[in-house]
Order: sequence, then structure tokens, then C-alpha cells
Amino acid sequence: MERAWCFSFTTSLISLVEFLPGISASTPQQQCADNAGSHAGVRGGYWSPSSSRYSPVSSIDASIYTHLYYSSVSIDETSYAVAPPPAEESSQLAAFSSTVKSGSPSIKTILSIGTNEYKVDVSNAAFSRMASDKYLRGVFINSSMELARANGFDGLDLSWIFPATQMDMENLGVLLAEWRARVMPLLLTATLYFSNHLFDLPDSNLDYPVDDISNNLDWANILTFGFHGGSNVTTFDAPLYDTTSHFSVSYGVISWLDAGVPPCKLVMGIPLFGRSWFLRNKTKNGIRSPTAAAGTKQRKSNLTGIIAYAEVEEYMDSASTVITYDNQSVAEYFYNGDIWVCFDSAQVVQHKLEFAARSRLLGYFLWTIGFDDSNSTVSQQGQQLLNLANIYVN
Ligand SMILES: *[C@@H]1O[C@H](CO)[C@@H](O)[C@H](O)[C@H]1NC(C)=O
Ligand SMILES: *[C@@H]1O[C@H](CO)[C@@H](O)[C@H](O)[C@H]1NC(C)=O
Ligand SMILES: *[C@@H]1O[C@H](CO)[C@@H](O)[C@H](O)[C@H]1NC(C)=O
Ligand SMILES: *[C@@H]1O[C@H](CO)[C@@H](O)[C@H](O)[C@H]1NC(C)=O
Ligand SMILES: *[C@@H]1O[C@H](CO)[C@@H](O)[C@H](O)[C@H]1NC(C)=O
Ligand SMILES: *[C@@H]1O[C@H](CO)[C@@H](O)[C@H](O)[C@H]1NC(C)=O
Repeated sequence: MERAWCFSFTTSLISLVEFLPGISASTPQQQCADNAGSHAGVRGGYWSPSSSRYSPVSSIDASIYTHLYYSSVSIDETSYAVAPPPAEESSQLAAFSSTVKSGSPSIKTILSIGTNEYKVDVSNAAFSRMASDKYLRGVFINSSMELARANGFDGLDLSWIFPATQMDMENLGVLLAEWRARVMPLLLTATLYFSNHLFDLPDSNLDYPVDDISNNLDWANILTFGFHGGSNVTTFDAPLYDTTSHFSVSYGVISWLDAGVPPCKLVMGIPLFGRSWFLRNKTKNGIRSPTAAAGTKQRKSNLTGIIAYAEVEEYMDSASTVITYDNQSVAEYFYNGDIWVCFDSAQVVQHKLEFAARSRLLGYFLWTIGFDDSNSTVSQQGQQLLNLANIYVN
């Protein structure tokens, strides 16, 4: 049984175009003309307070991103307000916006409110209950705006990973509409499943409320990575293409576009982590080889099976590491002894960004920026490669 997300992610948002509920008759093209004018392409990055021991806020080069997400705070399951961060994180939350803006005043910061990864079921039950009740939605929305303003954020993001019933999906749409009516001048974004149709969860066959998403979010960040955490064979975790399954970046992007979300409202995720396994037999080291276990817990991720891009680079410096680029999947892997890792190399990222530009998406986000190397190599690459908005407008 493969599960798409083994740890939590957050979303983002932005908006300058107000869509009045009920009288939004604009076409996707009109929405895009407005949105592209407002947002000159999104080069987003998620930053997690748990990464501060190796990626302190003060070390972030904010000039290479347009939007930085603080990922994340969660919902209080008793009051349904946004939960304040744990005591040891409150000073980081308070300092985040002013610190990243001190060197890069034009950057926008967004506070992501997401499922608590340490108590997913309780947290998601609270989102579900809150979204179903008009009064509780008001409590949640008001508290989100208070926390964002008190800490100098420019926007809010909802990272509910994931709504679990079709009623949750309908209520999510209502929440977004009510939030939009109140949220200006803050931005509003959401972090969503990689496809508009959830097919990998216990209650499968759920569809997101696409019109509410298009009309009320500045944009949606889609989680186009982390597809195969539980696999017992080696496999690509975020391939651009996959001819044998729907678990690919291109499938996810196209599903959202086919469902009617305008491309200028979609921002595509790029992982700054690889997926690692121990091979069962180190002579069987290609794709779809049996694995014995998830790879060792790494210093940065502090999770088994997850390895930061910076740590991948350390392996690539070793003469005993064998690297293979798969140009059909647009994915890369290496093995070294009985360690096997798939990851997004510079070449993979370049092809993904070209795909995003061809698809006229608003931009991309990196998850998470603390996993990049000390030169911010991947983040720099994204910044230099493309101005997605210009490509879109032309
Ligand atoms: C949220 O704030 C609005 C505007 O201040 C107020 O009218 C409303 O009563 C508040 N809702 C709740 C549930 O506190
Ligand atoms: C590993 O695979 C090789 C080649 O297929 C085989 O000769 C060897 O017996 C295998 N080793 C184990 C421990 O299964
Ligand atoms: C992997 O798991 C699947 C189903 O859970 C099983 O059919 C398959 O034999 C397993 N493969 C290996 C190499 O363990
Ligand atoms: C790593 O994770 C463990 C739980 O698996 C936790 O107890 C520990 O504090 C974490 N270490 C760091 C440095 O975050
Ligand atoms: C992929 O690699 C194969 C083998 O090296 C090569 O023949 C083919 O032209 C490549 N395809 C693309 C699209 O680059
Ligand atoms: C960072 O850049 C410097 C200068 O180009 C280089 O010497 C160093 O090896 C780079 N470090 C990494 C981790 O890429």
C-alpha cells in the first residue's frame, strides 16, 4: 500500500483580484490576465521552524524567492482557532517576516496553517468540524488574520492534508469563499493534493471544489512529489512522467488544468529531498529492485527514507556512487553499496521548470528550502532559469 505523503506539507496563497461571490463570471483567460499582472511569477519556498538548527532564518537568501512560507502552525482542536506555535517556536514566528524582509523588502511572507504531522487524525478532524460550521469558520478565519497581522505576514495558506469526505470538500469551498471575503489585503493560498481528484486515500474518489479554488485563492500550490513513501521496491518519488501509473507531476498538473483551474492559479511543487532505501541485494540496483527498509535517518530531515538535496550532493562526491538519469521519467537516482536514492537533480529541476513554463503555470515552490545546499544551488537555478510570468504573458 503506497501512501502519497509521509510527512506534512504546507500551502501558500496570494491575491490581488477580488472575486465577488456569485458574480464571478470571468473566464479562466480573464482570471489569468488579472492574476499574471498582479503576481510576476511565483518562486516560492517553504521554511520549517524544525530546520532552524541548520537553516536559521537569518541565513536565508530571500532575494532568490518571491514568497516564503512559514510552515507551519496548526488548528486548535478545542477552540477551532489557529493554534499558537509551541513556546520554543513563538520567537521564530515573530521574527520570521521582519528577518527575511530586512535584506529583501519586496519579498512576501505567508503563514501556512496545516495539519499537525504529529497528530494527523485529530488535527484533520478539527479542520473537518471547523469547516462544517459557520460560527467556527468565523473563529478560525478571524484568528488566522490576527496571527498573520500580529507577526507581519502578507498572506495565509491552508495546508489541510487532506479533506477526507466529499462533505469536507464542499465545506472547504465554503471556507475559502468566506475567507476570501475577509482576507484582503492579505494573500490567500492553499496546499493541495497533486491531482484535483484524490485517489490514493482511504476514502478515495474525492474531487476538490475547483470553482471555489479558482475564484477564491490567489493560487494553489500542488504537492507534485512524495508519491511512493511506502514502496517496497525502488521507484521514482516525483517523476515528471510515468507511463505505468498516475503518480507523476505531469498527470497532476494536467488533471487540475483539465478540471478548469486556470494555469495562472497553479504553482507546482519541487522537492528538495530524495527518497532513500536499503537494497535487498546490492547487485539488483536498478529501478523496481526489491528493498529491505527505508534509508537511514539523516541529519537534516530527521526522518528515515528522506534525504536532503545537500546530503545527496555529499554522496555524489563519492567515487563509489553510481548516478543514472532516466530521460523518459525525467528523474534521477544513484546507488552506493546497498543505499539507493531517487532525487531531483539540477537537470531534473530544469526539465520540470520548462514543463511548468510550457504549461503556463504561475510558478513553482520548493519544499523545503533548508534542504538545499549551502550555496542554495537548486533555489538559484530556479531563479535564474525562468521568469515564468513573462513566458505566460507572452
Ligand atoms: C469575526 O470578525 C468579524 C469582524 O470583526 C466579526 O463581525 C465576527 O463576529 C467575528 N466572528 C467570530 C466568530 O468571532
Ligand atoms: C543477489 O543477486 C545476485 C545476482 O542475481 C545473486 O547471484 C545473489 O545470489 C543474490 N544474493 C543474495 C544474498 O540473494
Ligand atoms: C511488495 O508488496 C507487494 C504488495 O504489498 C507484494 O505483492 C510484493 O511481492 C512485494 N515485493 C517485494 C519485493 O517484497
Ligand atoms: C528527531 O526525531 C526524534 C523523534 O523521532 C525526536 O525525538 C528528536 O528530538 C528529533 N531531533 C531533532 C534534532 O529534531
Ligand atoms: C533518452 O536516452 C536515450 C538513450 O541514451 C537516447 O537514445 C534518447 O534520445 C534520449 N531521449 C531524449 C528525449 O532525450
Ligand atoms: C559553493 O560554491 C563554492 C564557490 O563556487 C564552491 O567552492 C563550493 O564547493 C560550493 N559548495 C557546495 C556545497 O556546492
